[in-house]
Amino acid sequence: MCGIVGAVGHENCSQALFDSLRRLEYRGYDSSGIVTIDESEITLRRAVGKLINLERALQVSPLSGAIGIGHTRWATHGGVTTENAHPHVASGRVAIVHNGIIENHRVLRNRLQADGHNFSSDTDSEVLAHLFVEALDQGLDPARAAQQILGQIEGAYAFAALLVDYPDMLVVARNASPLALGVGDGACYIGSDAIALSHLTRKVIYLKDHDFALVRADGVTVYQADGTPANRESVIVAANQGLVDKGGYRHFMEKEIHEQPDAIAHSLAAMTGADGRLTAQLDDKELQDIEGMVMLAAGTSHYATQVARYWIESLTGVPVSCEIASEYHYRSPATSPYSTALVISQSGESLDTLMAMRHAAACGMKTIGLVNVPDSTIAREADMVLPTRAGPEIGVASTKAFTAQLTVLLCFAVALGRSKGMLSRDQVADIHAKIQALPGLVGKALGLFDVIRPIASHLATAKSALYLGRGVLYPLALEGALKLKELSYIHAEGFASGEMKHGPIALIEDDLPVVALLAADPLMAKASSNLREASARGGRIILLSEARAAAEVDYADAVVTVPDVDPLLAPILLAVPAQILAYLTAVEKGTDVDQPRNLAKSVTVE
Ligand code: F6R
Repeated sequence: MCGIVGAVGHENCSQALFDSLRRLEYRGYDSSGIVTIDESEITLRRAVGKLINLERALQVSPLSGAIGIGHTRWATHGGVTTENAHPHVASGRVAIVHNGIIENHRVLRNRLQADGHNFSSDTDSEVLAHLFVEALDQGLDPARAAQQILGQIEGAYAFAALLVDYPDMLVVARNASPLALGVGDGACYIGSDAIALSHLTRKVIYLKDHDFALVRADGVTVYQADGTPANRESVIVAANQGLVDKGGYRHFMEKEIHEQPDAIAHSLAAMTGADGRLTAQLDDKELQDIEGMVMLAAGTSHYATQVARYWIESLTGVPVSCEIASEYHYRSPATSPYSTALVISQSGESLDTLMAMRHAAACGMKTIGLVNVPDSTIAREADMVLPTRAGPEIGVASTKAFTAQLTVLLCFAVALGRSKGMLSRDQVADIHAKIQALPGLVGKALGLFDVIRPIASHLATAKSALYLGRGVLYPLALEGALKLKELSYIHAEGFASGEMKHGPIALIEDDLPVVALLAADPLMAKASSNLREASARGGRIILLSEARAAAEVDYADAVVTVPDVDPLLAPILLAVPAQILAYLTAVEKGTDVDQPRNLAKSVTVE
């Protein structure tokens, strides 16, 4: 992942870069660094760990200069050390920051080392700095140097280079990894996304894959890979993308859990037409043309697709295949049954998901991007966009984006069902009225913190936990288990409860926490029998359930109830106690809730 930033022409460049890095810390927080050119010399500050450590280093020894680049790292090649922190400097003449993976770095490094280049890190990225030194030594100007280097490297990259011999420009390029160029007043900037630049400018130019550019204080010149100049239009991005704060909550995650009624209401508004009816943001013809759907996503967004499959298949009759994005195109999937790829990503930048979407497009499918970040790469590349309006999600574990995704997906399924003639106008109106009640119901579920706190205290002592659900609650079991493991580092697995007897029930032993998701749906009796079987073998049942269903259960060790809802809505409502349970367990264990170890918010490597 990693975040990269750059500035040229800003009089307090180091501070501007640091403020940009704060906006990008969601992309990685293993180490960070900034480099500037001051009096014709490269000056570098780097620190391992969170940005606060870099801030301290800059307080002790500030950086001056009007041009610089910075980086916040999520380690891929090379451990978390100062030497492996970016920027990387070669021969005191070139500094680079890079996001992505240079896949052929070994071959390049061996060649450069044989030619006398001394490397100081274990990273793949450092080859870029040495390739620039090599190209400049060959007498190439910065544009020709960049062009030569793009011809040599393979993989995903967004990088920026600072050249001591050309102290008035940054050289930048991208392929697959995101990069935004910001045009300011007498200064220009670069960042991994427009949010990084939101305190500096709203005028942004997005490079296309294989583009490179020279960024000077008075503007940018963009080239295509073959060196011909390219005209890339600037756009004005939305104003409210600034740094968000915790608003009095202890963690961003806690705040974002509480923001769910708004996130759902705003997302619902995006799916409601001027006439007050549900819309899929697609016209009737586009909806009718959907014959089969493949849904592509990663992590929590993938679990949202799995919930949506139940809705879409039952409400529309359209066949759906849910695919883990990182697996999709590498297994040459059969695509003929599917006309449409629905691609779901909070960030709109997950590289696995982007690559899967590109593969689907190359196979001739229409692509619909369901994203939370409106200017993201997936939003820009998809044929059509369905927005979630959850607002910036900063906590690494997705919460409000997930329930907003589910809300939009349910609205989409209903509109598609209507267009396919599977749902009558009255049925649609009935479901729509129920969906409209969701923000209020989720608001009520937020009152569960105190009920869940003692359950979380006990769960925090467990080594392992199971999550069980059946039907549309099965994917929610997977999501609940993911939340627990990523936040509290307790091993957790989600299973379809009917599948337990085929093997996993062997895991149950005395006092093993079993988080059971239950709703008053047609599968309730069967799901409840499965839970009873787990209880009979010593499992400690923590029931997260609608009130109606909970009333039928006499074997649970702890019970958390949400208001009764239509079974269609149960996964959205029950997501809330599952999130709160994981959150409070992590708080009890004292883990880093907003930035769990080894993770990053936006995963822009494959
Ligand atoms: C888990 C989580 C991740 C993301 C996944 C996809 O809580 O947040 O599993 O869901 O990395 O991210 P997006 O949706 O941004 O593509």
